[in-house]
Amino acid sequence: MSALEPQPGKPVRESQSEYSELALPNDANALGNVLGGKVMHLVDLAGAMAAIRHARMPCVTASIDHMSFLHPVHIGQLIILRSSVNRAFCTSMEVGVKVWVEDLLTGDLQHTSSAYLTFVSIDAQGRHLPIVPVIPETEEEKRRYEEAGRRREYRLELRKRAKP
Ligand SMILES: CC(C)(COP(=O)(O)OP(=O)(O)OC[C@H]1O[C@@H](n2cnc3c(N)ncnc32)[C@H](O)[C@@H]1OP(=O)(O)O)[C@@H](O)C(=O)NCCC(=O)NCCS
Repeated sequence: MSALEPQPGKPVRESQSEYSELALPNDANALGNVLGGKVMHLVDLAGAMAAIRHARMPCVTASIDHMSFLHPVHIGQLIILRSSVNRAFCTSMEVGVKVWVEDLLTGDLQHTSSAYLTFVSIDAQGRHLPIVPVIPETEEEKRRYEEAGRRREYRLELRKRAKP
């Protein structure tokens, strides 16, 4: 099928992405733990990978929802980020990113953070482009799809209130 022909949709598995990075001293705060901003940067990258894989077009970050850091990440640990598109709307889509930390010496894996990001697909002239729908297949994907609709309403309400 050519990129110009309308497509019925894409399964979530086509956007599923994984990105890993070893935490190095350059990423640390004064206590020797990774800076929250470093993790946020990785979340944005992992989210963009899934968004671009789904849209197969350039995408920009429109917003990032609330993020919590459940425990510190230590230098020498591996930061693992898994992302996929939960739902596409018209020109925007919600991407979920889950952050894990692996202690390479013990193999322990801990869930550190989760985030929802909204990406908008745009062309070189800055025009927003329509995005093919997401087809949720598993029960978990269907749940995320439904919840993404509710989160979008909340986000758009916040955006309306923030406008001068
Ligand atoms: C995000 C951006 C494309 C929105 O453009 P806009 O003209 O204000 O947006 P519109 O009102 O036409 O909305 C476009 C889509 O984005 C969504 N959107 C816009 N702002 C949003 C926000 N804060 N949260 C969630 N979705 C948002 C809209 O709901 C709409 O989605 P839909 O087409 O699926 O219904 C624009 O503000 C932009 O380019 N921002 C800079 C992005 C960037 O450079 N990010 C990197 C960090 S600096």
